[in-house]
Amino acid sequence: MADDPKTPPGVPQSILELSAFNPVARENPHGLLAALQSACPVMRDEAAKVWLLSRYRDVRETVNDRTYVRHPLNAEPGSISARFVEEGRERRASILFLDDPDHARIRQPLAKAFYARINRMRPEIEAMVDEVIDAAPEAGVFDLMEKVAVPVPVLVIARILGVDEERLADFRQWSEDVILGLNPVRTPAEDARLVSGAEALDAYFQQLIEARRRAPQDDLVTDMVQLQASGEAKISDDEVRTNLEALLVGGNLTTTDLIGNGIWLLLMHPEQAAALRTNPDLAAQAVEEVLRYEAPVQATSRIVPDERTVAGCPMHKSQPVWMSLAAANRDPEIFDAPQVFDITKKRASHIAFGGGPHICIGAPLARIEARHAFLKLLTRYPNLRLSDQPLVWRTLPFFRGLEHLLVEA
Ligand code: HEM
Repeated sequence: MADDPKTPPGVPQSILELSAFNPVARENPHGLLAALQSACPVMRDEAAKVWLLSRYRDVRETVNDRTYVRHPLNAEPGSISARFVEEGRERRASILFLDDPDHARIRQPLAKAFYARINRMRPEIEAMVDEVIDAAPEAGVFDLMEKVAVPVPVLVIARILGVDEERLADFRQWSEDVILGLNPVRTPAEDARLVSGAEALDAYFQQLIEARRRAPQDDLVTDMVQLQASGEAKISDDEVRTNLEALLVGGNLTTTDLIGNGIWLLLMHPEQAAALRTNPDLAAQAVEEVLRYEAPVQATSRIVPDERTVAGCPMHKSQPVWMSLAAANRDPEIFDAPQVFDITKKRASHIAFGGGPHICIGAPLARIEARHAFLKLLTRYPNLRLSDQPLVWRTLPFFRGLEHLLVEA
């Protein structure tokens, strides 16, 4: 894109430049985000047909405002947000893309069942984290992503849902396949995997729903069919399947990245790892600081529902507003020394889980898994350190996570 004479050099002018498709942003997006936040906090990207907000206050106000809409069918045609409508699947949006009344109709009972289950299962969830970490190599160099960060969330969500133990391997594979849907640039082979994985997962969930209806078990699928039967949840089987699948798509990669980014940051800052080893009560604050400092989900969005002024700029109905959670999390107006990773410091709330009606439903689960994983890893491996291999960040736009994290125990 030609330089606009009004834009200072170095200030990004498109969301593409800020995404992992740009090698500079992939390596470290924070310099570009800070430049954008100070020079152009409300950016217009004409190619993507979106606005991008990067100041904490603007982002917070927008996510919290219930009058914005989310369904991609409301987005300006040709805008990047409109491209989230999958052909033939327009009606099968999960809560992530639904608006009220459908959003509330599905989210309320799902959240109620999910939170009750997580609360009850907390000791089991921590035992599952232990199970995965105990199975990792005792010593030597290994990939922490492969051995710990990837398997933990898949195992936990499988057991919460009630996936049969003998189908765990299939379930892992299907989860990997459907996560490909997060990548807008897929090879034909990846497209085929996505379709076949989604079909297999859908068929399996329907089988589970029917099995639990006949013979209830102690799991989330049973909770959902019982809420349907009692009339408390007015949700079709199709909606149950779509939203249980959304827990995999929304929860697995993100929690993987929270664990991976966290261990990377702790090993990069040995004094912080030492502080956590000495005072395990810091674990909760450590998780929040990792979420603030390297937000696994870098952006979220809303759609302007009418003509209005947003963050001081006139905006039109249907225009998508993207928000950089990563930039907001390092806004110097809110966070003192925002570029410093410090798990010992009490800070204002970050915005890594978004906010308002769409705030991440899985936040409590991600927190339990990450807290326990950090403590368990630091205890099991007292001399854990980064290997000398260069880091490779994943090329998935607007998600921040490592492809591999080679560590030496
Ligand atoms: C560190 C881990 C995670 C991060 C950083 C994260 C981040 C986010 C963000 C930014 C949103 C959008 C919020 C908004 O637009 O205001 C979201 C929504 C969502 N997340 Fe998460 N998430 C994580 C873990 C999980 C987990 C573990 C699950 C499920 C088990 C999950 C399921 C969802 C779902 C279903 C939504 C849509 C909620 C709605 O629109 O009502 N996420 N998440």
